[in-house]
Amino acid sequence: MIIKTVKCPKCKTHLKINGNPGETILLSCPKCYARGKYTFPGEKAEIKSISADNAIEVRNLTKMFNGFKALDNVTFNVKKGEILGFVGPNGAGKTTTIKLLTNLLTPTSGHAYINEIDVNKTPTKALISVGSLIEVPGVYDYLTPHEMLTYFGKIHKLDKNEINQKIKEVLKVVKLSEWEYKKIGSFSTGMQKRLAIAKSILHNPKILIIDEPVIGLDPKGMKDIRNMIKQFKTEGITVFLSSHLLREVRDTCDRVIFLDDGKIVTQGSIDEIMNRITIDTIEVEFLNQLSEDDIKKIKSISEINNLETENGIFKIKFDGKPETSYKILKKLTKQGLKVISYSTQKADLEDFYVSIMKDERGVV
Ligand SMILES: Nc1ncnc2c1ncn2[C@@H]1O[C@H](COP(=O)(O)OP(=O)(O)O)[C@@H](O)[C@H]1O
Ligand SMILES: [Mg+2]
Repeated sequence: MIIKTVKCPKCKTHLKINGNPGETILLSCPKCYARGKYTFPGEKAEIKSISADNAIEVRNLTKMFNGFKALDNVTFNVKKGEILGFVGPNGAGKTTTIKLLTNLLTPTSGHAYINEIDVNKTPTKALISVGSLIEVPGVYDYLTPHEMLTYFGKIHKLDKNEINQKIKEVLKVVKLSEWEYKKIGSFSTGMQKRLAIAKSILHNPKILIIDEPVIGLDPKGMKDIRNMIKQFKTEGITVFLSSHLLREVRDTCDRVIFLDDGKIVTQGSIDEIMNRITIDTIEVEFLNQLSEDDIKKIKSISEINNLETENGIFKIKFDGKPETSYKILKKLTKQGLKVISYSTQKADLEDFYVSIMKDERGVV
């Protein structure tokens, strides 16, 4: 862990921050609310530690396509039993990461380990306990789920009885039992996606790697897939899922990694990320129009970080703590100001997503 003091480029306030070598964190100045990112030094140092607690470990992974860096020195872990959301806009590098994790692509530099085994060096061994879903299998239109899954069972060297038993089992999980002998070409996108999930869990994987699981699905289909993923967690399966949809990861995942332009922007639990962003606001309305003097009084309240007005509504920025909100209200009324409405607006993860994806690298 590195502890550093950085200066806000706008108001020059000193901020104390901590993080790991190479980690990029989002900063929000508590005084002037300028936003920016800071990358801790030591990015180039390869961290080799491999822990048995992790199902997936990615170390300094870089992928170039004809001189274009699609993935830039990415390092992260996925703990055993965790559901990790890998989030970012289109083109961020999510599918590239997943293809590197499943040996469909070879890294330009860096390593991906699954259960402590280097995917690039010994792929068969590393991927034996992995189920993956990368694309919807349109090429199986003329087969039935039974035929398709039998084929995949054979690839995984399951015997005939085992295959038949597993097919029944996985089709039940994805609610396609009645469709076992129907042509896949007649299925809806949602059904095809569920079948692809059935395929990925046929050989009892301990780790599931899924690229954009709900893309192209209607709300009901999305809900089915989400519930299925939550069910996998209760069975101790580690899930790594990529998505460009925030709602999906917020509802399903234990932890989230945000990726943009091939780089990790930030990571943590949803709660941790929400706590890192101090953009909570109190909206206040007063009975009477306030005088210059009244506004001066409000600004002198030490718990208030910033004050703005919009259509007669005062927007107070504060540290987000309920006790601070209470103190501010007490001070306003003590000053004789007639508060008629007072409500706290929590920053939403959606605001955060938009802000980190658009922010420039600023605070140094
Ligand atoms: N095979 C490839 N050849 C050239 N460029 C590629 C290839 N695959 C991906 N890219 C580029 O790499 C970047 C990341 O792509 P991708 O990993 O598919 O992003 P995401 O899945 O987050 O949308 C994009 O700019 C994409 O155009
Ligand atoms: Mg993709």
